[in-house]
Amino acid sequence: MRLRDKVALITGASNGVGRATAATFACEGAMVVVADIDDVTGADTVEEIHSAGGRAHYLHLDVTDEASWRTAIEEVLSHFGRLDVLVNNAGISGSCDTGLTSTDYFDRLMSVNARSVFLGIKHGSAAMRHSGGGSIVNLSSISASIGLRGVHIGYGASKAAVKSMTTTGAVHYAADGIRVNAVAPGMLPPMRTTRGTSSDPVFRATQVDAIPMKRVGEVQEVANVVLFLASDESSYVTGTETVVDGGWNSV
Ligand SMILES: NC(=O)c1ccc[n+]([C@@H]2O[C@H](COP(=O)([O-])OP(=O)(O)OC[C@H]3O[C@@H](n4cnc5c(N)ncnc54)[C@H](O)[C@@H]3O)[C@@H](O)[C@H]2O)c1
Repeated sequence: MRLRDKVALITGASNGVGRATAATFACEGAMVVVADIDDVTGADTVEEIHSAGGRAHYLHLDVTDEASWRTAIEEVLSHFGRLDVLVNNAGISGSCDTGLTSTDYFDRLMSVNARSVFLGIKHGSAAMRHSGGGSIVNLSSISASIGLRGVHIGYGASKAAVKSMTTTGAVHYAADGIRVNAVAPGMLPPMRTTRGTSSDPVFRATQVDAIPMKRVGEVQEVANVVLFLASDESSYVTGTETVVDGGWNSV
């Protein structure tokens, strides 16, 4: 088992990539803390893991709120005694129905997608130091590096902030035995918050056509990469961004 007895906190783990990552980690022997604001689906995720014989615990965590992070980390340490892996996965889509230049949505993107990762690195690394080190994996996006149509102009900026905090965090925490890496997916099934142009099937089909592999990625294909970065197999890997996009970024 690749994560035997490691304690892993995954944000946004009620759905999508986070949920697939939680199930994958549990299969590999981790004690998984499923953290989200979607409590009902979060309970389902935990139930699914238990049914498969894995270990999981649900925690309500609003990743934009620092007090919520403090409480979550305290709860993890008091229940499980340590934190080995943090996956900063929670996020909202850049494809909104408020207009691609809405200032309110810009602030929301920065809060949910970027401030959240700052808070996670800050509080997660403090807990990991007590555990003798750990691995932090941040969910970025190819939008951090390339421009995409139909996406709020702040989305890529929020993910570029994640990419930057990954490299800076790697340098800051290397001496504490904490690695910080990012995974940058391309096109996956739509996020729960995807609205507007990017939810239009015709528009999506034109985007898929631009992907060299001619298909959308699966959440499991992202979870597999997160697993590698979380595990000790990647013990000399830090400050990297792994692109999971079927070659889209290379066109
Ligand atoms: N789906 C894609 O096409 C795609 C592409 C590139 C990158 N990503 C990134 O991958 C990550 C996961 O995306 P997904 O496709 O699984 O999306 P999703 O919408 O299926 O899941 C996101 C989860 O985050 C949770 N969340 C939202 N706001 C939160 C908050 N304030 N506090 C705690 N939890 C919150 C939601 O409840 C949900 O469970 C995101 O960071 C996203 O930006 C997704």
